[in-house]
Amino acid sequence: MIECTFAIIKPNAVRSALAGEILRRYETARYRLLAMKLVHPTREKIAGFYAEHEGRPFFPGLCDFMSSGPIVVLALEGEDAIAGVRALNGATDPAKASPGTIRHAFGPTMGSNVVHSSDSTESAAREISYWFSPEELVQYTMKSSLADV
Ligand code: RTP
Ligand code: MG
Repeated sequence: MIECTFAIIKPNAVRSALAGEILRRYETARYRLLAMKLVHPTREKIAGFYAEHEGRPFFPGLCDFMSSGPIVVLALEGEDAIAGVRALNGATDPAKASPGTIRHAFGPTMGSNVVHSSDSTESAAREISYWFSPEELVQYTMKSSLADV
């Protein structure tokens, strides 16, 4: 099924100039970019985003980390995009992530893994609308090669 999902390239990855490499992996897997922006979120914006984790011991540190610098927020579309992007990301704990995944490649720790993506159709819809207005979701047709444009 064609799905939309939401992903974040976290501040440590942006600071380390890994945004392009991570985006390349999503594009290579043929997920279509629906929307993308670079934003330095406030702690309040992040706390609202991660509201489901409020009260967990890692929540304050997660909010500090995620608001420590600019992040890239992305909406992606494609066949089974929710599970597919999570598979590209790998396990939450980079130490347990499979070879070939983004979290395996870049780590560095559970609390500062370099990417986020939605875990269900409901969270994808909530997360996309949390970061993007409807006009920011861009419609176009993805081609298989430059020669095909
Ligand atoms: P994400 O939402 O970021 O894609 O990751 P996930 O579904 O695999 O993990 P989730 O349980 O939703 O946790 C969100 C983020 O919180 C940090 N975390 N730290 N120290 C800890 O025990 C712990 N647990 C979670 C991670 O950075 C995770 O990505
Ligand atoms: Mg999650």
